[in-house]
Amino acid sequence: MSEIIKAPRGTRDILPAESWKWEYVINTAAEVMKDFGFAQIMLPMFEHTELFSRGVGETTDIVEKEMYTFTDRGDRSITLRPEATAGVMRAALENNLCAQGAFAKLWSWGAMFRYERPQKGRYRQFYQIDAECLGIENPEADVEIIDLSIELFRRLGLKNLEVVINSVGCENCRKIYRDKLYEYFSAHKSELCESCLARLERNPLRILDCKNPECGKIADGAPDIYDSLDDDCREHFEKVRAGLERLGFKYRIDKRLVRGLDYYTKTAYEILSGDLGAQNAVAGGGRYDNLANAVGSSVKIPGVGFACGLDRVVLVMEEQACSFGKIPEPEIYVVADDEESRKHAQILTHKLRNAGVHVECDISGRSFKNQIRNASGCKLACIVKDGKFEIRSKDDSGVGIVSKILEREREKFVDIKNVLAQKSTGFVDKALEILEHERDHVTNIKNVLEKKRAGDYSDGIVKLDNLDEAFDYLSANL
Ligand code: HAM
Repeated sequence: MSEIIKAPRGTRDILPAESWKWEYVINTAAEVMKDFGFAQIMLPMFEHTELFSRGVGETTDIVEKEMYTFTDRGDRSITLRPEATAGVMRAALENNLCAQGAFAKLWSWGAMFRYERPQKGRYRQFYQIDAECLGIENPEADVEIIDLSIELFRRLGLKNLEVVINSVGCENCRKIYRDKLYEYFSAHKSELCESCLARLERNPLRILDCKNPECGKIADGAPDIYDSLDDDCREHFEKVRAGLERLGFKYRIDKRLVRGLDYYTKTAYEILSGDLGAQNAVAGGGRYDNLANAVGSSVKIPGVGFACGLDRVVLVMEEQACSFGKIPEPEIYVVADDEESRKHAQILTHKLRNAGVHVECDISGRSFKNQIRNASGCKLACIVKDGKFEIRSKDDSGVGIVSKILEREREKFVDIKNVLAQKSTGFVDKALEILEHERDHVTNIKNVLEKKRAGDYSDGIVKLDNLDEAFDYLSANL
């Protein structure tokens, strides 16, 4: 027999035991994005290779050694996206989203691909939540992006994070800075690792974030970028810092933070977690005022954005025992005894699902005993037997159910009172409408109480005579 084919190295399956946590993080991100006025954009997972070689930069690790590039059947060089920013910019240019000075605030999430050495928090297929603000040159946009990323982590409950910022200047400042670095590192050639020797010739800025401790020591003594910043870049950086301070954020300035992508200008930042080990960046971003031109635009479209690593965020949240909300579990389980009851169970389940209730019934031919066992995790179990419906609640007195319905109804009556108090046009009609809507529920409560009075209600069990009554009762009791 042949072996089972495994997933490629650096990829993994996000199984149901974990995927609900991812859903929580993505839904939280969607809410934060909405509150900050970012609209979702969905992009292709592959692009023309040129977009990344020109956008991300020829001398970056990503373009030099990490891209999944192939020639398609039409003889085009195609690359699986290693990041989202270049694609967002391409989409904005192609669809004129920033024409005539308009700006666009866009977010997306999805899989990225980089051929890296897999380790904890580093995969070859990984996922990012990405936000980009295109068309605004002001430092306020940088502050908003940093604020957005911090807010996302705040809502997710992440602790022990550090915001690190830097300015990498514009093209002009960098030319001056590059020369200073070249001179400095040339004097330390014998102490640099092999990769840094190559970096020295191609892009000495890259030496600043080399992970080799020896190179790190030398980089610590390298000239300061701030001495090479022109007035505009310096003022921009000061305004970003002032904005962050105005919002009460703590941050650290790291003059060696240059980020691994070439498109950055001015602001560069990262958010680091103390709970991730070597791959400690949960998010990174910055400004990229020349990216549009690098990918072919004749007009300048400034931009600033960030991306957070979804895999890493989930890892940190697990480690910090953060809440992922509620595990999606059925609220009701419909248990059926015989063939005829199974048909009733099927109809009842269908109707409840139509009403938006998370409900399960057995479709695999399990025994009655096994069905009861499955139902034990649910808030309510409905047992169908001889055409009758018996509802059991986890609440063993049954009184809880009635008081819950009464509580819900009380709220509704407060609504009616409010409508009447407003005395706006049609207030009586509106109140009657609510009352009409509530009549069925009230009848339901009456039925339950009458059954209880008749002694037909013990140990949290409610017996109902037909499917419609069971439906009404169940949908009113969630
Ligand atoms: P990046 O720093 O390359 O920036 O990636 C952003 C985040 O993606 C990282 O901080 C990390 O959390 C996650 N990440 C990166 N590589 C991996 C990997 N191999 N496995 C797991 N997670 C990973 C960018 O991609 C820029 N496009 C960010 C940006 C947006 N700048 C401006 N706008």
